Amino acid sequence: MKVYKIGIIGCGRIAQKMATTLGGMKGVARYAVASRSKEKAEHFAREWQFAKAYGSYEELANDPEVDLIYIATPHSHHYEQARMCIGKGKPVLCEKSFTANARQAESLLAYAKEKGVFITEAIWTRYLPLSLKIQELIHSGIIGTPYTLSANLSYPVSYKERIQRPELAGGALLDIGVYTLNFAAMAFGTEIERMESSCLLADTGVDAQENITLFYKDGKMASLQSSIYAKSDRMGVISGDKGQLIVENINCPQSVRVIDDDYNVSAVYYAPQCITGFEYQVYASIEAIEKGWLESPYMPHAETLRIMRQMDELRKSWGVVFPCD
Ligand SMILES: NC(=O)c1ccc[n+]([C@@H]2O[C@H](COP(=O)([O-])OP(=O)(O)OC[C@H]3O[C@@H](n4cnc5c(N)ncnc54)[C@H](OP(=O)(O)O)[C@@H]3O)[C@@H](O)[C@H]2O)c1
Repeated sequence: MKVYKIGIIGCGRIAQKMATTLGGMKGVARYAVASRSKEKAEHFAREWQFAKAYGSYEELANDPEVDLIYIATPHSHHYEQARMCIGKGKPVLCEKSFTANARQAESLLAYAKEKGVFITEAIWTRYLPLSLKIQELIHSGIIGTPYTLSANLSYPVSYKERIQRPELAGGALLDIGVYTLNFAAMAFGTEIERMESSCLLADTGVDAQENITLFYKDGKMASLQSSIYAKSDRMGVISGDKGQLIVENINCPQSVRVIDDDYNVSAVYYAPQCITGFEYQVYASIEAIEKGWLESPYMPHAETLRIMRQMDELRKSWGVVFPCD
């Protein structure tokens, strides 16, 4: 069996979670890491047992041994870095939000297609088994016809530089709100008629707290909330005319409770044992590479693009502008 050598670009917080994940996976090797600082890369490589440490992202992409590159940098840098990797023929798993805006996403996806290189968005909830179970439960009719959905995700992350600064494509929407939009998309699909929203801006001009309502063509409605100040309960509730599905932690579903017509819990589904949950997106990337696919069925390019466009529209209505827009 081939062992896939993984390279990580950016030695920050989420790169550590990926390093932990790779350490517990089968068929992958913690191969290389790259940082803008060689010293930082070497320190990270030593700590997490990677074979190679590079002082520039390009050197890592030039390494012929690297099979898949995970991009773990601020949103503002994904476009340029993913494009560089694709140009060198390297498959890419790129952290959410995929890019800073839809124009960048369109250009990047077109380039990957032209070069015939695989790329997918590391929006990990899309690849989790329990996320797929939620879709199955909705379609089974267990809660009758679904009509409404509410989901919230908030963490007190306003102190972080990459959240504060428009140049780093900061704000709640691209960092946290993106999970609520993906939760709604997985449950209610893509046929949105219109959006209404309200937003509180931070002093730096990025969006700090927001309410978003999605109205679907078939009469469904989703209410989403996120904030970079609060610590919310992260619940997702999908209501039909015969019951509800209550999802604990839409950021990484832990359990789904099925509530029946009489408000009794009729079933509970739990997430399977996992390393961190990040492994599913890595296995999905490897599956796609092995099968010669340019995208993953778990997060099709069309979905990445649709959600980037949705976020552009929301930001525009709030007056949140990034220099790269
Ligand atoms: N899936 C999840 O659960 C999850 C959770 C948190 C974040 N994320 C995503 O992961 C990505 C990185 O988030 P993080 O929390 O790991 O970020 P971070 O720790 O702040 O930064 C990650 C790396 O990006 C580079 N970087 C940081 N600031 C930069 C700047 N001003 N200019 C250029 N490069 C800079 C640095 O790489 P070097 O110094 O090593 O070159 C840094 O180590 C984001 O896309 C975020 O949305 C995902």
